[in-house]
Amino acid sequence: MSRRRRVYEGKAKVLYEGPEPGTLIQHFKDDMTAFDAQKRAVVEGKGVLNNRISEYVFARLGDIGVPTHFIRSLNMREQLIREVEIIPVEVVVRNVAAGSLATRLGIEEGTLLPRSIIEFYYKSDALHDPMVSEEHITAFGWATPQEIDDMMALGLRINDFLTGLFIGVGIRLVDFKVEFGRLYEGEMVRVVLADEISPDSCRLWDVRTSEKLDKDRFRRDMGGLIEAYQEVARRLGILFENDTKGRSGPTLVK
Ligand code: TMP
Ligand code: ASP
Repeated sequence: MSRRRRVYEGKAKVLYEGPEPGTLIQHFKDDMTAFDAQKRAVVEGKGVLNNRISEYVFARLGDIGVPTHFIRSLNMREQLIREVEIIPVEVVVRNVAAGSLATRLGIEEGTLLPRSIIEFYYKSDALHDPMVSEEHITAFGWATPQEIDDMMALGLRINDFLTGLFIGVGIRLVDFKVEFGRLYEGEMVRVVLADEISPDSCRLWDVRTSEKLDKDRFRRDMGGLIEAYQEVARRLGILFENDTKGRSGPTLVK
């Protein structure tokens, strides 16, 4: 069917060769995995929602000057991106205790953290993405001290902006994971936001009810995943209910 060259296939996305050198097509699949792919499912429509949410978030971040790999939307499941060299470090930013932090440190889920906390994980499925420190990252050459500084500064800017964006639509940004890449431009190389930001990579709780609107619904067998992702898109004003309705922009919740 497709003659496009597949450059890389991950758990939730496929990367194809783009129309011009230095570009790629990022395709969002309906596949869902958790716990290093021990748990798997195909959730129809999930890829479309994540593509839409992620392209919206990346575009808004681009508007405030956060450098990203995103170029433009192509279709329901695909976006054109700049080819980058992924830095093999996952950057997690947390505002509220949840997930592995709550378990590891024995802090009750939902506890507001004294300040935003950044953590690093080494990207390796074989090792189950172990948590690492800046010392490990620089000693093993996964990123330079300057790149770590850039990732931390960008992580906090993204957190500040997204916290406000989501709070405006009645959603609490509990935590999220981002990935960065090196963008080579002639002699220059800079760190840019890559991968995706979606309910697969964030914890999003309804402000009033604390209802989970993210992938924890899948991890914890809660059901209602698509409805939750749709709700996030609907509140951001980017869900096409049908083809005749356009994008209305975010709906403020008072
Ligand atoms: P954690 O509490 O399980 O460490 O997750 C922290 C955040 O990172 C949460 O928003 C979910 C996200 N995340 C991913 O996007 N991919 C992963 O593989 C893991 C473990 C977490
Ligand atoms: N990245 C993990 C996996 O796919 C899932 C997660 O818990 O987010 O196995």
